[in-house]
Amino acid sequence: MEKFDQKLLRGNKEWVAQKNSEDSNYFKMLSQSQHPLALWIGCSDSRVPPNEVTKTHPGELFVQRNIANMVIHTDVNLLSVLDYSVNILGVTHVIVCGHYGCGGIKAAMSNMSFGLLDNWLRNIKDVYLLHQKELDGISDHTVRERRLVELNVIEQVRNVCKTSIIQNAWKLQKHPHVHGWVDDISNGLIKDLEISVRSNEDMHKIYKYDL
Ligand code: CO
Repeated sequence: MEKFDQKLLRGNKEWVAQKNSEDSNYFKMLSQSQHPLALWIGCSDSRVPPNEVTKTHPGELFVQRNIANMVIHTDVNLLSVLDYSVNILGVTHVIVCGHYGCGGIKAAMSNMSFGLLDNWLRNIKDVYLLHQKELDGISDHTVRERRLVELNVIEQVRNVCKTSIIQNAWKLQKHPHVHGWVDDISNGLIKDLEISVRSNEDMHKIYKYDL
């Protein structure tokens, strides 16, 4: 039986052949530059591939993924991606996209220890605590879990907005707009939480920077 790594390389060759047959200049054009209009911050989960679920092509989305689509202000990887995409690539949208059935959210709601990962999941437990009253009021575990997925996206959108990177961009160019979405992996549809933010007007003053 073909090993999985060989299947991936074969798949790549087939994809290249298909692209070249559609447009013989495809890779020449792609290799020259990229002009993505959005930064996608999503979960590492294999069931939410950003380009596929949004029917976009290589070059259209700049992507950062981690467990449970977290925006943690000490994560130099995420901050570098955010800074580069906003200030160099000039993306006009930042999308935080979570998904129902997220293993990171499930794990954070449990009392199980997962070793090193506990430290990452701690940030989700903190989100729970911020919304404890609402969440503890939901008796059905699945409904509570789905709501935490949504609230976690909302808090990560806020975390994006709290960065001086975004607040500075808003001051200089009125962009980007920051959106919160949730992918429902049971039917493939993305739900817009309709919490898009484009200024720091409604932000608590402690997070506002004089720029
Ligand atoms: Co997930």
